[in-house]
Amino acid sequence: MLARNVDFNLTRVCLECLFASSIYRIAVGSDGVRISMESALTARDRVGVQDFVLLENHTSEAAFIENLRKRFKENLIYTYIGSVLVSVNPYKDLEIYTKNHMERYRGVNFYEVSPHVYAVSDNSYRSMRTERKDQCILISGESGAGKTEASKKILQYYAVTCPASDQVETVKDRLLQSNPVLEAFGNAKTLRNDNSSRFGKYMDIQFDFKGAPVGGHILNYLLEKSRVVHQNHGERNFHIFYQLIEGGEEDLLRRLGLERNPQQYQYLVKGNCPKVSSINDRSDWKVVRKALSVIGFSEDEVEELLNIIASVLHLGNIQYGGEDSGNAYITTDTQIKYLARLLGVDGLVLKEALTHKTIIAKGEELKSPLNLEQASSARDALSKAVYGRTFTWLVNKINVSLTYKNASVIGLLDIYGFEVFQHNSFEQFCINYCNEKLQQLFIELTLKSEQDEYEAEGITWEPVQYFNNKIICDLVEEKFKGIISILDEECLRPGDASDITFLEKLENTVGGHAHLTTHKLADGKTRKVMGREEFRLLHYAGEVNYNVNGFLDKNNDLLFRNLKEVMCMSDNKILTQCFDRAELKDSKRPETAATQFKTSLAKLMEILMSKEPSYVRCIKPNDAKQAGRFDDVLIRHQVKYLGLMENLRVRRAGFAYRRHYETFLQRYKSLCPETWPSWQGKLADGVSTLVKHLGYKPEEYKLGRSKIFIRFPKTLFATEDALETRKHSLASKLRLIQTGPGLDSLAAVCPSPAVVVQAWWRGILACRRAQRKRQAANTIRRFIKGFIYRHNERCPENEYFLDYVRYSFLMKLRRNLPKSVLDKSWPTAPTALIEASEQLRKLYMQNMVWGYCKRINPEWKHQLEQKMVASEIFKNKKDNYPQSVPKLFMGTRLNGEEINPKVLQSLGSETMKYAVPVTKYDRKGYKARPRQLLLTSNCAVIVEEAKLKQRIDYAALKGISVSSLSDGVFVLHVPTEDKKQKGDVVLQSDHIIETLTKVAICADKVNSININQGSITFTMGQGKEGIIDFTSGSELLVAKAKNGHLSVTAPRLNSR
Ligand SMILES: Nc1ncnc2c1ncn2[C@@H]1O[C@H](COP(=O)(O)OP(=O)(O)OP(=O)(O)O)[C@@H](O)[C@H]1O
Ligand SMILES: [Mg+2]
Repeated sequence: MLARNVDFNLTRVCLECLFASSIYRIAVGSDGVRISMESALTARDRVGVQDFVLLENHTSEAAFIENLRKRFKENLIYTYIGSVLVSVNPYKDLEIYTKNHMERYRGVNFYEVSPHVYAVSDNSYRSMRTERKDQCILISGESGAGKTEASKKILQYYAVTCPASDQVETVKDRLLQSNPVLEAFGNAKTLRNDNSSRFGKYMDIQFDFKGAPVGGHILNYLLEKSRVVHQNHGERNFHIFYQLIEGGEEDLLRRLGLERNPQQYQYLVKGNCPKVSSINDRSDWKVVRKALSVIGFSEDEVEELLNIIASVLHLGNIQYGGEDSGNAYITTDTQIKYLARLLGVDGLVLKEALTHKTIIAKGEELKSPLNLEQASSARDALSKAVYGRTFTWLVNKINVSLTYKNASVIGLLDIYGFEVFQHNSFEQFCINYCNEKLQQLFIELTLKSEQDEYEAEGITWEPVQYFNNKIICDLVEEKFKGIISILDEECLRPGDASDITFLEKLENTVGGHAHLTTHKLADGKTRKVMGREEFRLLHYAGEVNYNVNGFLDKNNDLLFRNLKEVMCMSDNKILTQCFDRAELKDSKRPETAATQFKTSLAKLMEILMSKEPSYVRCIKPNDAKQAGRFDDVLIRHQVKYLGLMENLRVRRAGFAYRRHYETFLQRYKSLCPETWPSWQGKLADGVSTLVKHLGYKPEEYKLGRSKIFIRFPKTLFATEDALETRKHSLASKLRLIQTGPGLDSLAAVCPSPAVVVQAWWRGILACRRAQRKRQAANTIRRFIKGFIYRHNERCPENEYFLDYVRYSFLMKLRRNLPKSVLDKSWPTAPTALIEASEQLRKLYMQNMVWGYCKRINPEWKHQLEQKMVASEIFKNKKDNYPQSVPKLFMGTRLNGEEINPKVLQSLGSETMKYAVPVTKYDRKGYKARPRQLLLTSNCAVIVEEAKLKQRIDYAALKGISVSSLSDGVFVLHVPTEDKKQKGDVVLQSDHIIETLTKVAICADKVNSININQGSITFTMGQGKEGIIDFTSGSELLVAKAKNGHLSVTAPRLNSR
């Protein structure tokens, strides 16, 4: 009996230990009980390694590709490099995106399940929830590699697995439905991908405090507008055109004046590819129409949107004839008729604008006719502008429908990867620049997170050598001497600028840069593979030759002013939002395409920097879009241009593998007698005992605060192999206990191991559920108690609540920080935080002011300094000072041509600082005379046309008097003993504050301005005195009064 009990207990202990040691890691999916191992390790012999950091030969590109191949052949398309997911496009439906799969990845540790895009999604979601830090997932790869598909999978994962309510359902639908709409308008069939995104997309998915998706926001980048008017052979225009023509109802097409035949439209025939076998335009049309209404487009809006799409097609069909003079005229009047109606503009005005351009010369508008070529490109420019701006409008509209505030965020970036073609143009230049920036961010953040982890664990950081691509980013974007600045300069300068002069300027300015060369500057070998019109950039990923043809035009992206004017007059509500009249008034040239892109990229980098990043690196296995084909050359190219080997090197620079002590001990404790079946001491000591028993050498591992770090995969594999052996021996022991000689009767009484495992597992699940419930109840109880005691001093009863209040105030504060130095708003702090909030407000304000000051340019600084002086002199002292505050001080009020040359001559070399028209009042009869007051570096001069009437050296200027009212009269006091001066000067300026501030600054007399109430006394020469009396009245009046004084009536201002 005793023996029986002992054996039975042994069975239990063994099972318990087997279970606890995580040899079998059990997770339950909705497909039932699933037993999986920490598969990254044990699956390695079968299909390579699931994490490249475990590759023994981690510097070998061949080994890297071989691992990808092995896995791809087994339909294992996902592999990690640490936490980076590498994904190879399978070009076939794998059954790995079902709801069951989603469940499987929900709430499970990254390394416990096989690599998947759901694991990355779930990991980001959990980090957002638990660490309360915004996340972003950066998806990159070349065209056709599967970026958009990956981003859709992530979105679906959140839609299915996150908590929801009715309101959330609507947002979820909108989030999901934004994809078909954006794809219809922004995707097209290209040679590389039947559904290629022709724009970059960053999408924030916003989650509320319960973790439910409640909103979103999309930013779009660099839509390939040129596709609207031209497509390469085998490619198509944006899907929406074909969807409308194929799927649009008869009625609709009639109204839009369209025929159901894409061949009829010039903008759709260039690629000679109206039909694509993998695309069903008709059913896609239905999907898009439905999506538009789910997102919340009204019927009117849809109609106006389609009017625009149809009008682009009509624009493409406008044809020109040439007169003898070479001037173009339109030969297709029907199109104009439709266009006038669809765009809601006057047909004649549009016709005129499509054949002429307006030039403004000396303030006059002149119309000049266009020749055939100019007219066609004006038409195409209009089509591109209309489509491009409508696309941006569409994105904004979707954003409005997804608006939600105060949320945690996971951002998804689906953006073009590095592009290297036979011929690379402006677009590839921008795209590759974008990738340089992303690479910079990637390296910085990967290194940083590695460094942070080492620091947190107290392990010495060993610096990692890596290529810092800042030098290339600078070469492209630096102010004044970067390629974009040079390009902009060529676009904006007058004279004969061309693509070739741009190339020459590059050679002259950055020709010596280590990462740039041109045909002219290159050595003989390189020259052979470069065209004369090309420059070569040595990107972090490799060399790319760019042909400068078209750079200037594409960068300028100009639309003639009169075409803009027509669009501004449109009745179509979407177009009126796209073409703002303010744009016409703005005489500044619009920013160039490259500069706009640079600015938007800088903003994107800021956004990404503020979040915790995860990465999905997509790879295309072949160019034929075929399943099962693994093209070595193509993949090697992508591994290189995605910088994956560098990723791996950085990740492997320190330790290949790290795990929390608890996880490590649980898994391997059976390998050491002291830790088996359980370790009672500190976890760190347990791990230390275990690895010593296993014979780890000191250089092979380090023990951090909570984790063990293992340097080489081989150490881990050896441990893993030992575990495998141990597992078998334990299993045999179990079998022996169950079926051993003489123990048949025991087998009859004991349940089978499977039943025991099941029972244990159920028990453990129930315990966990109960524990969760207990925790939840506790939290609620603590919260309520804390609320009741919230006004007491901090005590155990209220500390949880107070912490929560603090946390939520700080979070609220973070989201509602003032945006500018003038914004004085600040969230109201809870009582416990009033002081801290005030300190924070001060600090934040100081910081903002400091930032503001740093950004001030010299011109503005000068303006502010003058305003400061004005404030010191006049604030609260003179009635019309407040009115002067918002008005900028002018450099001068009279330009060189308005001052008589003789005066300028007689002033000789003295520098003119300021000039203003003034009125002078005679000392005797107070007659008003128009004069000019000039301020030079040494003196103030009063001028009457060509005559220099009076010169007052600043040194001799005794003081300045002015009234406290709103008039502009002032007196310059000069010494009475100076015979040359005929007494003080009484003047009046319409810009009194500005004029006197300038006088005060030039003459250094800030403290010599007297502001008087009532009256001013001044000397008239020969010892006589005059008096000016000031009173308030309805309007300005300056006249001699009966008492012989000069009487000034100053208008009362509203504020007084
Ligand atoms: N995980 C996947 N499973 C099955 N097929 C896929 C997967 N990922 C991509 N594909 C296939 O590859 C095609 C191209 O993928 P996708 O449109 O995502 O490429 P992309 O990287 O976004 O390219 P582009 O830069 O041109 O927009 C998809 O239309 C789909 O047919
Ligand atoms: Mg895409």
